[in-house]
This record gives sequence, C-alpha cells and structure tokens, in this order.
Amino acid sequence: MNGLEDMIQFPQFVDDFMQRQFTDKQVGRFYVGHSTNSKKRLSQLITEMICEITGGSAKYVGRDMRTAHAGLGITGAIGCNCEEPGRFA
Ligand code: HEM
Repeated sequence: MNGLEDMIQFPQFVDDFMQRQFTDKQVGRFYVGHSTNSKKRLSQLITEMICEITGGSAKYVGRDMRTAHAGLGITGAIGCNCEEPGRFA
C-alpha cells in the first residue's frame, strides 16, 4: 500500500471484505444477532488492527483476540488461532 488514495480506500476494502463474511455460508452464523452498528465497529477495529500491524499511525483499541473470540467455538476447517494467547495472534 502506498499513497493517500490507498489510505482512503483501505477502510472501504475491509468493509467490503467483512460484508462478505457476514453473509458467508461458513462463517456468517457467527455474526447472527449483531446489529448494523456492531458490524461497522468490527470492520473499524479490524481496519485499525491491520493499520497498526503494518506500521500505520492508527492504534488498535479493541480487545485481545483470545478474549474477543473465546466461547464462539471457532474450530475445524474454519478455525484460526483466535483463541490462542496474544493481542493480535
Ligand atoms: C473464522 C474466523 C473468525 C470468525 C468467525 C470471527 C468472528 C468474530 C466475532 C463474532 C467477533 C465479535 C465478538 C463479540 O463481539 O463478542 C469477532 C471480533 C473480532 N475479531 Fe474475529 N473472527 C474470526 C477471525 C478473526 C481474525 C483472523 C482476526 C484478525 C485479523 C479477527 C479480528 C477480530 C477483531 C479485531 C475483533 C473485535 C474485537 C473487539 O470487539 O474488541 N477475527 N470476531
């Protein structure tokens, strides 16, 4: 990524990606019951997280990944390391 244009388009990119997750056949069920505003907040937090990890000026202010995903039962083929310790991992 480089340049102002990319910086402006990045939140929209994450938003589009998350919209697809919310209606996805495999993972959409995890977002059932989330309000429109909660989904927007999620996109915003993920945008901030990626910005911080990639050295941008935004700061991630959300919960650590273990806390945010604990109890959701994300396992198997769609599993990731969300329930492992660490702020971003
Ligand atoms: C199949 C994989 C995943 C599913 C189904 C999933 C689902 C969810 C759900 C349902 C929440 C909301 C939890 C709540 O508000 O109680 C959440 C929060 C979050 N997830 Fe994931 N997630 C997945 C993977 C990831 C990955 C790989 C990342 C990192 C890029 C990530 C980043 C976040 C962040 C930043 C939050 C917000 C934390 C907060 O609310 O403070 N998630 N996720």
